[in-house]
Amino acid sequence: MHVIGGTASTALAERVSRELGNAPFGIPFTKRFPDDEMYVRVGGRLEGEDAVVVQSTRTDSDVLELMLLADAVREAGARRAFVVVPYFGYARQDRRFFPGEPVSARTLCRHIELDADAVVTVDLHSSQTLTHFTKPAYEASGIPAIARLLKERPIDVLVSPDKGGVDRVRRMAQLLDKPWFALEKRRIDSEHVELAMPPTLPIPIEGAHATIVDDVISTGGTIVEAAKLLKKRGAIGISAACTHGLFLKDAFERIKAVVADVYSTDTLGNPAEKASVAPDIAQILERLVAV
Ligand code: R5P
Repeated sequence: MHVIGGTASTALAERVSRELGNAPFGIPFTKRFPDDEMYVRVGGRLEGEDAVVVQSTRTDSDVLELMLLADAVREAGARRAFVVVPYFGYARQDRRFFPGEPVSARTLCRHIELDADAVVTVDLHSSQTLTHFTKPAYEASGIPAIARLLKERPIDVLVSPDKGGVDRVRRMAQLLDKPWFALEKRRIDSEHVELAMPPTLPIPIEGAHATIVDDVISTGGTIVEAAKLLKKRGAIGISAACTHGLFLKDAFERIKAVVADVYSTDTLGNPAEKASVAPDIAQILERLVAV
C-alpha cells in the first residue's frame, strides 16, 4: 500500500504509513499555473499497487487537490485507490435547512468518491452522511485517540455541549469510566450560542474537574460559553477536547483564556494537536487491503 499525503494532511499521512509498517510514503509535487489553476504529480511506481490518498478537505482548494490526486493515482496504474478524508469539510450542511440550499455534504461525497474504491473519514458531523457514498465508506472515530490521551488526566465528569454530541461523549465516558451529561444548546448565529445546564446532573458539578467533548471546534464560541457556564456552577480545572480543531481566527487564545487545557487530534494541524488518529485510520486500511 502506497500512502500519498496531500498538502492538507502530510504529517498525518506519514503517521499512517508508519502505522502500516512503514508503507511507502510520498508527497506529491504541487504548484499553481499563472492563471491559478492547480497542478499535481504523484511519484513512485504505483502500477498494479494499492494506493491511498490522505487529504482533509478544510478548504475548497483541498477538495480540488484531493480529486486531482485520486485521478493521478488511477492514471499511474494503481490497482485500487483509497481515499482518506480525516476532516470532511461541508459535513455540517448535511441537510437542506432552508429552501434553495444544497445538501453540501452529499455533493462532496459524490465528487470525492469519483476515483476511489473506498473512502475513509473520521468523526463526521453526522454518520448519516456515509449513506451518500455509493462506494464502501467507513468512519473512524477520534474518541479512542483522545481517550488514550486523557486516561491519566484528572477528570470527574465529561460534558457534551449539545444533545447532538451525546453518542460521542457516552463513548468517551465508557472508555474512561466517567459520568457524563449534555448541555442544552441554542445556536443564535454562526459565531454565537446560548447554553443551559440540564435539569439533572450525574454528580455535583461544584468542585468537579470537567472536560468538554465536541466533534469540531470552529469559532470557539461553543467551548467558551460551555466553560463559562461550568465555571459559574463551580466546576474547576475545565478542559476541552475535540476531534477536529479548526480554531478559526483567535479561537485558540479565547478558549485558552477560560480553560486549563485544550486537546485535539491531528485530522487538522493546530496548536492543540496532541492525539493521533493514525492508528485508527490504519486499522481500517489494513482491513480494506486484506480483501
Ligand atoms: C455543532 O453542532 C458542533 O458539534 C460544534 O459544537 C460546533 O461546530 C462548534 O462550533 P464553534 O466552535 O464555532 O462554536
